Amino acid sequence: MPTKVPGAEEFVPDTDDLSVLADAAQGCKGCDLYLDATQSVFGQGSATATVMLIGEQPGDQEDRAGAPFVGPAGKLLDKALVAAGIDRDSVYVTNAVKHFKFTLPERGKRRIHKTPSRTEVVACRPWLLAELDAVRPDVVVLLGATAAKALLGNDFRLTEHRGEVLGLPAGEFAIDPQVVATVHPSSVLRGPPENREQAFEALTDDLRVVAGLMRGHGR
Ligand code: URA
Ligand code: SF4
Repeated sequence: MPTKVPGAEEFVPDTDDLSVLADAAQGCKGCDLYLDATQSVFGQGSATATVMLIGEQPGDQEDRAGAPFVGPAGKLLDKALVAAGIDRDSVYVTNAVKHFKFTLPERGKRRIHKTPSRTEVVACRPWLLAELDAVRPDVVVLLGATAAKALLGNDFRLTEHRGEVLGLPAGEFAIDPQVVATVHPSSVLRGPPENREQAFEALTDDLRVVAGLMRGHGR
């Protein structure tokens, strides 16, 4: 029988204070991912940000640094944000899952990213909901299928709906932001080199939709 995952719920303090939430996330044992990771990587950015960007989970460098999107995927994201005319300082950046999931290959010690399971995503969701409640963004950007499914449900198809202006499922959330889903920046890096420029442009185009929504909110 699969062991029941308790989830993050009991570890999430009832507060809108992001630094209190971030501190509390260091003690989370809501699923097994805390066991092997260095630390939990909470979101970063202003509590008054108009836009919240949500990735999948911290990578190797984020796990060491304790900050989201500081490694190769983060550098690519920064470039795409600049190209789309979005100031990274004006956004709040976080991940669907707060601990790095990886495997250690038998030879060598480079830790290899592993996609979190649906169970882990659901276990970690209370942290994401607490961040959404605290920041109350006007626009939520879902980077990749894991983040998209975390908020829009497991049946959501990114390839069909990327770049569209969507909403959160009715009745499940205390806020009602506009939502744009796009690919994960690391998919641009992992794809075939000859497609990289086109994949980068497509990501940037989706972020331009976000920039347009921000202007609509007076930013
Ligand atoms: N990939 C993510 O989804 N998030 C990070 O913070 C880094 C890489
Ligand atoms: Fe808690 Fe999320 Fe880390 Fe699991 S991944 S231990 S739910 S913070």
